[in-house]
Amino acid sequence: MDFLHIDDLTPDQLRSVLTRAMAVKRDPASVYDHLVHRSVGLFFQKPSTRTRVSAELAAAETGAHPVVLGQQEVGMGSREAPKDVAGVLDRYLDLIAMRVFDHQDLIDVATHAEAPVVNLLSDLEHPCQALADLQTIAEHRPFEGAVVAYVGDGNNVLHSLMVGATMLGMEVRVATPAGYEPDPAYVAKARRYGAVEVTNDPYAAVAGADVVYTDVWASMGQESEAEERARLFSPYQVDLRLFESAAGDAIFLHCLPAHRGQEVTDEVIDHPRSRVLDQAENRKHTFKALLLDLLE
Ligand code: CP
Ligand code: NVA
Repeated sequence: MDFLHIDDLTPDQLRSVLTRAMAVKRDPASVYDHLVHRSVGLFFQKPSTRTRVSAELAAAETGAHPVVLGQQEVGMGSREAPKDVAGVLDRYLDLIAMRVFDHQDLIDVATHAEAPVVNLLSDLEHPCQALADLQTIAEHRPFEGAVVAYVGDGNNVLHSLMVGATMLGMEVRVATPAGYEPDPAYVAKARRYGAVEVTNDPYAAVAGADVVYTDVWASMGQESEAEERARLFSPYQVDLRLFESAAGDAIFLHCLPAHRGQEVTDEVIDHPRSRVLDQAENRKHTFKALLLDLLE
């Protein structure tokens, strides 16, 4: 099975990965040698801190052998076609995890590799991030009936979060500037599971929400648009006033890296109810649970 999209898991499988992640977090030693002699490739076409470190450690701490590869050495799409990279890596590795620009490259690799292929972020989705987001929400309150408000760019992180959250019984409210809404195909996908409201009004989205989430206004690969986006997105900054319009015990989430002073103010990201470091930590626990699910 590949994990390119959050809904490559059924809602029951998603719940079970999260339950396992919580068990692994409580007792890391319980899975120390579960994947001995298995090999996990971690390929990056874009920079990474959390994904690189958490995935490499998740593999090592379950006994697997991580092999980290960069685009400079592999040259996927320039030195070698994704199809050929897939065929070769498939002969060496038990699982191939990749961070790419073009989601189609992941599909091509998955088509030509028998090993499970995992999306470590593409232009369309960031499903491993969503696993950690969902674990962090579960640590705050029950999923059923929770309201998740996402403010900012309708991007890869939102796509996976929106579908994952509705799969687990949450309501999602999204506020973006006009023209930066999430892909309508993802809104439709999420609406098959639960309620999703898309608006251009950040206060309408955040009112009474249990979780307030934002991400950078310009994702990796969109650097040339950063200045224009900063102008357009400034009314969507998560500042204390906006955060305080959420529920009294609401938590703040951000996948990180954050651009302090742009999509979020210091007061909010450093707020006692900000859970961004738990979220980053949970990347490791959820990746372990995913590896165990795919390789055991
Ligand atoms: N959240 C996340 O994926 O961070 P990195 O880009 O540092 O891996
Ligand atoms: N949306 C961001 C997420 C980084 C983890 C990006 O794609 O750059």
